[in-house]
Amino acid sequence: MSKYLPLWPDSASTLSGQVDALYIYLLLVAGVMTTLIFLAVAVLAVKYRRKPGLQAHQIEGSTILEITWSIIPFGVMLTFFIWGAVIYFQERTPPADATEVYVVAKQWMWKVEHIRGQREINELHVPVGQNVKLIMTSQDVIHSFYVPAFRIKQDVLPGRYTTMWFKATKPGVYHLFCAEYCGTMHSGMGGSIVVMEPQEYAQWMANGPAAPLQETGRQLFASLGCATCHRFDTQGRGPNLAGIYNKPVLLDDGRTVTADDNYIRESILNPTAKIVSGFKPVMPTFQGLVSEEQLNALVAYVKSLSQSPATGTAELQNQPSAPPGQPTNTQVQ
Ligand code: CUA
Repeated sequence: MSKYLPLWPDSASTLSGQVDALYIYLLLVAGVMTTLIFLAVAVLAVKYRRKPGLQAHQIEGSTILEITWSIIPFGVMLTFFIWGAVIYFQERTPPADATEVYVVAKQWMWKVEHIRGQREINELHVPVGQNVKLIMTSQDVIHSFYVPAFRIKQDVLPGRYTTMWFKATKPGVYHLFCAEYCGTMHSGMGGSIVVMEPQEYAQWMANGPAAPLQETGRQLFASLGCATCHRFDTQGRGPNLAGIYNKPVLLDDGRTVTADDNYIRESILNPTAKIVSGFKPVMPTFQGLVSEEQLNALVAYVKSLSQSPATGTAELQNQPSAPPGQPTNTQVQ
């Protein structure tokens, strides 16, 4: 807001103006309502005060008056809900073109990994004017990723991914806080979001390591032996993973789930939780064998199988990996 009256933190994302507007609206409505109520109390106290020689008499209620003062404030309060819901859904829905960044929280630091392989600790570099989606998880307790200047906050939980997005509108350095009490050094678990001009950002990116996240994932996929079962044809013991990302998957028990980040993650750590129709629960768990960073790389790799024909699997992407009712792996026990 103003540097002379710093009531608001810096406003540096596309959402911050909207959140502020709603907040100001709430304050205004609360102010008007409070004034009206106290005004009515004062006026009525004077008007109906005890006067000498005047006998008090009972005043009956008025249905119309009562309905009016119930319905109108109700309508006014509903606008909070509607406006708040609109902003909430906007905050919860990352644009499809958003750049993905993986965040792993731990006591007491933020570990960031960019899709092109750059890693940072307690810092996140982003370009101005670009949608950025954070895919976050924790390797110990619950933390919360909070950037006041962007007006966004999201809990970061162990054992699953939560996401959040923003589009920075102003270059600068903004505070990152942990907003969930997470132990002794919780208050020190901060960092900074560095918003850069696009060309500056491109330069920064170019200085990073050469191996993109999905490439790290591809190497892990081979070294952990995933590739022996998850083949890019229909002959593997496990489902063909090409093209599955964000697509519906039919399960053994008849349910259909979406193969999103959390599904891929769960399938690595707890493979028997959701068995793909036509397959046997033969995959061992990788719980404890892969770090959160390695998990992110594996997830990024599986996602990349849906995007890049460079993996040599493009021609197979549209083939069903195992049509229900025609299991291709019945020889496996
Ligand atoms: Cu992490 Cu508080």
